[in-house]
Order: sequence, then structure tokens, then C-alpha cells
Amino acid sequence: MEKRILLIVGGGIAAYKACELIRLIRKAGMTVRCVLTDGGAQFITPMTLAALSEQPVHTSLWDLKDEAEMGHIQLSREADLVVVCPATADLLAKMAAGIADSLATTLLLATDKPVLAVPAMNVRMWDHAATRRNVAQLRVDGITVMQPDQGPMACGEFGEGRLPEPEAILAEIERRLSQPFASSMIEKPPLTGKHILITAGPTHEPIDPVRYIANRSSGKQGYAIAAALAQAGANVSLVSGPVALSTPPGVTRIDVETAREMQAAVYAALPADAAIMVAAVADWRAEANGQKIKKKGNTPPPLTLTENPDILAGLAQHPQRPGLLIGFAAETENILDHARAKLARKGCDWIVANDVSGDVMGGETNSVHIVSKDGTESWEKLPKDAVARKLTEKIIHALAPAS
Ligand code: C5P
Repeated sequence: MEKRILLIVGGGIAAYKACELIRLIRKAGMTVRCVLTDGGAQFITPMTLAALSEQPVHTSLWDLKDEAEMGHIQLSREADLVVVCPATADLLAKMAAGIADSLATTLLLATDKPVLAVPAMNVRMWDHAATRRNVAQLRVDGITVMQPDQGPMACGEFGEGRLPEPEAILAEIERRLSQPFASSMIEKPPLTGKHILITAGPTHEPIDPVRYIANRSSGKQGYAIAAALAQAGANVSLVSGPVALSTPPGVTRIDVETAREMQAAVYAALPADAAIMVAAVADWRAEANGQKIKKKGNTPPPLTLTENPDILAGLAQHPQRPGLLIGFAAETENILDHARAKLARKGCDWIVANDVSGDVMGGETNSVHIVSKDGTESWEKLPKDAVARKLTEKIIHALAPAS
């Protein structure tokens, strides 16, 4: 059967992109019914949306006169997915607080369908602690909040806050609709409402504008875990060092380069129900030179190294420490002894220890041991995505033991 989208268009200059989105949704064989907020109506007209969707457009709580025929409950129940695009800072705040003071916010509170919010706003509004808090709350509530794009903004500033391109929004809509449990917020996959934070990949520590210190981490294991957790319904924030991998469906990816940027991104993504630190973080950073270091005769330049923060150990001491904190330990010898020592030293709950003496880094398989205060579980050598699924099952058991 044709999928039905309820599109709530908020107020912002990005509202014009909702018009293109309607065209793409219909081209993909879905129907779309629009609700335009008062703010949205400052940017585009109900007539535009009605013409593009070939459906009546709703603007006010009070224009739904016949409750029996098309009350606000029914409007949201008829849809397979509710999409808020653009989702302004104000709409996100009202959704997070459960405020129902307009047709749009009433529908959002009354719906039992999955909701996808596509934020667009000024970079400072997006970065504001209040918006961060609201987005974190919405993710905990099971709402998918897309990560805005970076770039020049209509207001003349530059940064994160631009509406993602309509093609990317359509891809996210199709992903939400194809999820096995996406038809209702009532039938929930096991990690629905859980926010899980993952680090993956290497870090790059600059030496000068063209050189950096790196390591062989490919990011494959961390990305596989992020994908498996998203499939289990979690809201996943993936803080990623530089890797050549595409973002798994449904995962919010935050790109960083250095260990210090990674730590800041991890803290900014809190609170989380669980955190899995898979990244191979550089232990040291160099004093970065502003200019390319030139060769001087045969004498190599001195490289002064400074210790990087330990993100995992810092998170274990953080006031918002996730309830389940998992570290990785890449070892080439005495794997279990080192892993047990690391469990205590870092203050985490589990250590996933792996032998990296072979071709694990960059390879497709991994053989791991799960070390916790309850003992050690050793798994056979498995493809990295199978390790990810097994670890996800263990996490489900720890976070949602009833399911
Ligand atoms: O101390 P070691 O690097 O072996 O510890 C590995 C674990 O600690 C991994 O989970 C890794 O992501 C994390 N780590 C970190 N910050 C560092 C170094 C390691 O979060 N600076």
C-alpha cells in the first residue's frame, strides 16, 4: 500500500526546501499531507503546499471543524510517518517539553507514529545548550532527529544548522519506513528510546599543515557496532575520526580529527544510556607548527609530544557518566591481563579486548574477549559485523533486560 507522510512545515527560510521534498516524496510513490505552522506561513503559502501535494493543507487547530471526520488525532493516525521539516529551535523545544499550543505541536503530542525531525536554524541556535538538551531529550523519546548540514547560512553566518538536502531527507524517510518496527511507536524495537554514543576510527594529530600522526584504525568495527545498534532501534551518535566509510543508516555522525575534538564531541553528545569507545585515539599529540616544516640539512626536526586526554577514563569520571561504559583494548600480547588491568584503570564496565597482532586493523574479522567484573567471555573469530551484532545483543540484555 502507498505510504503516507504527514509533513509539518515549520517557520524558517528552509521552508522553501519542503516544497522540493514534497515533489521527491511523491516521485517515490508516497502521498503527502501538509500542516503549515504560522511561522511557516510567513515563508511559503498553503496554496503552494496544496498545489504540490494535491491534498488540502491544514494550518490551524480550529479549522478541523469536524472532529469525527478529520480531527487532529486522525490526521496523525492516518500517516505512516510524521516528518517535521524544517524543525525550528522553537518546534524542537515545544516537542521536547510536550507543549501542544498549535495544530502542529498538538499533532506531534497526539501521534502514535514514528516522527522524523529535520532541524534547520542559525548555527548559534543549533549550538545553544537549550537546543542540545532538547535534541538529546527527543532522541531519548524515540524521535529521529537528523543532523543538520554545515555551510553558509541565509543569515550570512557559517556553520552547522543548514537543512540537509531534500534527497538526503527522502533517504532518511525511506529508511524509517523500511525499519521493521517503523509502523508504530507502540511496537518498539528493543533499544527504542536509548541513546548510545560510539567513538570510532583513528585520530589525526597535526604536526604541521600537511603532516599528522595517525594509526591504522579503519573504523570498520565501530561503524559495524553503530549500524547494529541503530537496527535495534537505538538513537546512535557516532563520533568519528577520519575514515573512508559511509555513515550507517539512521546513525548521527559527528566528524572530528584530533583527540581533543573527539573528547569535546563526546561530552557535547551526553547524556547517553551507554557509550562504546572503539576509537584508536592517539596517545600523544605534537606541538603543531603553523607553517610546513622545512628540511634543514640532514638534521630531522625535533618533535615534542604531549599526552592526549584519555576520553574513556574521563567519561568514567564525568558527572553524566553513561550507565554502561564499554572500552576496547587492542593488544598484541598478554591480552587478558592487559584487559583486566585496563578495566580497573579506566573505570569502565566492560572491556572488549582484541588481538591486533595479525591483520585485525583494517581487516574484516575480529576475535574478541569481553572482560567485566563478572569474568571473561571469549568469542570465536567472527566477521566484524557479527561481532557487532553479538555485542548489540549483550547491550540489549544489559539495558533492556525484559525484552
Ligand atoms: O589505553 P588504551 O589506548 O589501550 O585504551 C583503549 C581504550 O581507551 C579504547 O576504548 C579507546 O577508545 C579508549 N581511549 C580513549 N582516549 C584515549 C586513549 C584511549 O578514549 N586517549
